[in-house]
Formats: sequence, C-alpha cells, structure tokens
Amino acid sequence: MSFDRSIKIAPSILSADFANFGQEIEAIEAEGCDWVHVDVMDGHFVPNLTFGPPLVKAIRPHIKTVMDVHLMIAPVDPYIDAFASAGADILTAHLEAGPHTHRTLQAIRGAGCKAGLALNPGTGLGDVEHLLDMIDLVCVMTVNPGFGGQKFIHSQIDKVRSLRAMIGDRPIHIEIDGGITRETAPLMAAAGADVLVAGSAVFTGGSVKNPAPYGANIRAIRHAAEAVQAG
Ligand code: DX5
Ligand code: ZN
Repeated sequence: MSFDRSIKIAPSILSADFANFGQEIEAIEAEGCDWVHVDVMDGHFVPNLTFGPPLVKAIRPHIKTVMDVHLMIAPVDPYIDAFASAGADILTAHLEAGPHTHRTLQAIRGAGCKAGLALNPGTGLGDVEHLLDMIDLVCVMTVNPGFGGQKFIHSQIDKVRSLRAMIGDRPIHIEIDGGITRETAPLMAAAGADVLVAGSAVFTGGSVKNPAPYGANIRAIRHAAEAVQAG
C-alpha cells in the first residue's frame, strides 16, 4: 500500500447484503471503489453485533483493493492477531477502547498491519498528538458508532481541520466514517479528509443483480469531494 492523499471511497459492507458478501464486494470493486471498509462490532463497545475473524477471513479472497477493518470492540488487544491473520491490511482500533492505546498500536504494526486510530465524536485530539508517529490512519467518526444510516455530525468538520494541521507532512490518512453522502463528503474533503467511508450512500438503489447504482453513487461522492479537496 503506497501513501497518497487522493480521495479514496471506502464502502462499508455493513450496508451490503449479508447473505452475499463475496458478490457485493466484487460488485463495488468493479464499480470503482478504492478500499473495502469492514465494521466489526461486539455488542459491548457499541450497541450492535456484526462479525468476527472467521467472516473477515472468508471475505478476504474477494477483496482485490484494500481491506480496511474498523474494530468497534473492547478489549481490542486479545483479537489483534486473529484479525491480522484473517488478512486485514489496515486495523483500526478506538482510542476509547482501553487505557493503553500506545500498546495497541504497537501490537497492530507488530502483527504486520497498518495501524488506524478511531475517535468517537465526543473525543478530542489531545491524546492523539503523542501517537502520531505510530499511526497510518486516523478515523474521525462523524456519527456515534454502532449503526449505518445515521445523520452526519457537523461539529466534526473543525476536528478534521485541526487534525489535518496537526498531521502536517506525516504520511497519515484522515478517514471519516458515518453519514457521508455526496452532500457531506465535500465538507470533509475541504477540511482535509482523504478516505471517505460510506455505507448506505453507496449501496442505496443497487444490488448484486443491478450494481450500476453502486458505481453512480461512488462517482457522485468522489466527484463532490475531489472538487473541493484541501491540499
Ligand atoms: C458506524 C460504522 C460505519 C457505518 C457507516 O458505526 O463504523 O462504517 O457503516 O454507515 P453510513 O455511511 O450509512 O453512515
Ligand atoms: Zn466504520
């Protein structure tokens, strides 16, 4: 995985047909997505359950781009090796998942993955500063994690702008996750985000039998963001 700040669209398969993950992934990649975002939820850190390492391993062969695994679980450390072995390219843990984020990030890189750090909407940037040299991606949650289809929280725009300034020239992606549409994507691209996760806004209107709307949705979000992207 080489680093650049071009806009990347990462559909969340939380909005895909759960009985057809393989075909859904092949459809969104054929329709032009850049990464595939995989939301792991434990019913404890967030009030919803999705899937664990066996499912992540099963879908891995279908992903030709980048497997971006968002761990909404606590504790997270005991599961890092399992998700790394399942084939994650990026493993993102939440800052709020435990007291030893530094150790968690070391473990993720030690397991051979790119390390991501996710922040809930109520979490400030103060605790990120001393971790910047250990991370490859910061995921700014623009909804409270747990569910797809929620409303974008506008207060996160300023957070992304501050984070972009804090990152400077470091090769760290800024990912935004939650409520991203063709309307909200440009707000975040202008503030400095480069990876745009979108679940419902990508999968709406399409299916594995009719994947063209996936492509139209991806292109609409991409074009809206590229038109205003900050340097
Ligand atoms: C929320 C997840 C998101 C979610 C995004 O907890 O982390 O990735 O699937 O879904 P939309 O784009 O529908 O808000
Ligand atoms: Zn996510």
